[in-house]
Amino acid sequence: MPRHLITSALPYANGPIHFGHVAGAYLPADVYARYLRMKGEQVLYVCGSDEHGVAITLKAEQQGVSYRDYVDRWHGEIKQLFDQFGISFDIWSGTARCPHHAEASRRFFRVLLERGFVFERSEAQWYAESMQRFLPDRYVEGICPQCGFEKARGDECPKCGTWVDAQQLTAPTCTLDGSTPILKQTKHWYLDLPKLQEEGLQDWYQGDDSIRPHGPWKPNVDGYVKAMLKDLQARPITRDLPWGVPVPEELEGSAGKVLYVWFDAPIGYISATMEWAEQKGAPDSWQDWWQGDDTQLVHFIGKDNIAFHVVVFPSMLLGQGKEWNDKSFVLPHNVPANEFYNLQGRKFNTSSGWYIDTESFFQSYSPDSARFYLLLSAPETADAEFTWEGFQNANNSLLADKLGNFASRVIKFNAKRFDGVVPESSGALDDDPQLALADAAFAQIGDRISKFEFKAAAKELMAACDALNQFFDAMAPWKLIKSDDEEDQIQCRNSLERCLAYLELLSRRMAPICPDAAANLREMLGGAIAVPENANQWGAEGVGVSPARLAAGLATGVAQVMFQKIDNDAIEAEVNRLESVVSE
Ligand code: 2FM
Ligand code: ZN
Repeated sequence: MPRHLITSALPYANGPIHFGHVAGAYLPADVYARYLRMKGEQVLYVCGSDEHGVAITLKAEQQGVSYRDYVDRWHGEIKQLFDQFGISFDIWSGTARCPHHAEASRRFFRVLLERGFVFERSEAQWYAESMQRFLPDRYVEGICPQCGFEKARGDECPKCGTWVDAQQLTAPTCTLDGSTPILKQTKHWYLDLPKLQEEGLQDWYQGDDSIRPHGPWKPNVDGYVKAMLKDLQARPITRDLPWGVPVPEELEGSAGKVLYVWFDAPIGYISATMEWAEQKGAPDSWQDWWQGDDTQLVHFIGKDNIAFHVVVFPSMLLGQGKEWNDKSFVLPHNVPANEFYNLQGRKFNTSSGWYIDTESFFQSYSPDSARFYLLLSAPETADAEFTWEGFQNANNSLLADKLGNFASRVIKFNAKRFDGVVPESSGALDDDPQLALADAAFAQIGDRISKFEFKAAAKELMAACDALNQFFDAMAPWKLIKSDDEEDQIQCRNSLERCLAYLELLSRRMAPICPDAAANLREMLGGAIAVPENANQWGAEGVGVSPARLAAGLATGVAQVMFQKIDNDAIEAEVNRLESVVSE
């Protein structure tokens, strides 16, 4: 049985994360993890905060707080947001707090150096004489050598997305004090990506299964990576900074230098696994996950992280050879990167107010409604957006009217007419065309999730609900129950038994997407219709598989409102709040 090692991009401990991040890299991973856990598979879902890098040091300095205090704050706040969304990490670590992280990162670096994949080079770097410090990455801004944008940063241009070579910026200014920096020589270590490309990266990427098999790449990933592999350059992996993982001290010239944040961050997935293993009391078991033949590693990320997860990190893993426990590291099985997710036509932007305040959001709306809508509108193949009207529609017309209403109609009818127990069924409805449609939709959900097609999975869930509502309407048990004909009475009992059995199936198929509502539905069905613990809770699936007949006499529970409707006034108020931001 494969081990599913699932990661979501480590968010920077540098401010709140927003719905766009959740839709892109966290919710899909969580649905995937929940689905596989229900199937009884081995799953480890790893995440933590990314706590190093210039974006963080700059902000902490601007706010006059220590780097440590700054990241501690955001580490905690970000986790709270994930909890509100029901994101089910097996471990939430952080690169500045994980006890294994610094050593693991240095070991990665040393092995690459010893194996000839890291070389040193002295180079000219921007230096602020006013402060006597080097200005790595976004400590300096200037004109982009590619597109001419005036506020390109020393690491990348926010306009055209190019990885910028800081020395090539024209009209540079220091982002701390606005001074004009000078170029000064300093030594740095470079990751020899072209050499690693030859040593296996290219072959692995193109599908050499003897290195490590991977699934089909998403077209957006493939397009980006193929272009990148045509002209791969060595990249500096150290920085002159006071915060980060120090470069191994035995190296000459290492004083004052740390590993580049994008070098140590992905190692955070491994060090977090070491921490998890230690907490479990089996410290070596991290190796089963990161070095096992049966591991399928899947990285969930946004499109801005593709280069690091499909090219740089796999190169770093390949470059370790068998220097760790005489075993090689796994390489990603897939990297289902999403495009960007916006808010009502514009990018999420917390500082300008163009965002959704999660605390007030969850005071009014349910996490499951948010999860469902974010999946339904997910940026899987193109940029997509959250709209308040879309959210209202998904909640009211889909979740409440189709799913919740079906459940409530069935449970209420059964309570009223059959004393809240499963009626005796003769099973004569096995060939019903609407139930066949429901079967077909249910059969797709797991397959879609396993192919990272979460949007389609959410649609199939609704298609199943449509078919079930149509079944209930076509059967019209409220008419059958009044008939004097015994055949009609049989038909009525049979149809109710089917509705209850399909509700039970629905509660499992919806669980990865809407876990709270699924638990709610199971309560409505009563404890007697149980799912075995610790077994394959997902159950059989596939074309033509319909739920088994329920034993007559099992008691059902009480109908509840599964999804509260959202009224127009609430949506109008949300939209007005955003519009007031634009007009400010
Ligand atoms: O883009 C980001 O938010 C990065 N902090 C993602 C890091 S992912 C991993 F490599 F750690
Ligand atoms: Zn540019």
